[in-house]
Amino acid sequence: MELVIASDHAGFELKAEIIEHLNTNHAAWQVTDMGPFDDKSVDYPIYAHMVARSVAADDTTHGILICGSGLGMSMMANRFLGVRAALCTTPEMAALSRQHNRANLLCLGARILSSEENRKIVDKWMETEFSADPRHLRRIDLMDLLITR
Ligand code: RB5
Repeated sequence: MELVIASDHAGFELKAEIIEHLNTNHAAWQVTDMGPFDDKSVDYPIYAHMVARSVAADDTTHGILICGSGLGMSMMANRFLGVRAALCTTPEMAALSRQHNRANLLCLGARILSSEENRKIVDKWMETEFSADPRHLRRIDLMDLLITR
């Protein structure tokens, strides 16, 4: 199971903490850090693009994107067909995004929540499976069917 992760400068510190947390507590996942590799100012769409492209290319790959608010990352990632990026601010949202929306990409706001709160969201997101209920499958299919250019 592969997980790709990236941030911008605002999420750089939290990204390092989340990677360490994943390696310690979710060791079944192979985590790939797509950058940045220092805290210099960068443009979040570039990093969202890299992660979302990997998630869109492979059904089993999941992603995590971190910026100040989580907003810019989620906006960019959701431009990819097949990507269902969920910006989550509570563990309940993390669980629902997996159960109902089959989110394959989690977005976090490093300036919105503490790192402990964000870690709890990651844990809930990683441990929750898609419900596979036919009504949720139908709605997920509709998202791809109704995509508008
Ligand atoms: C960077 O200052 C900030 O705009 C960015 O991290 C993010 O919050 C954008 O959505």
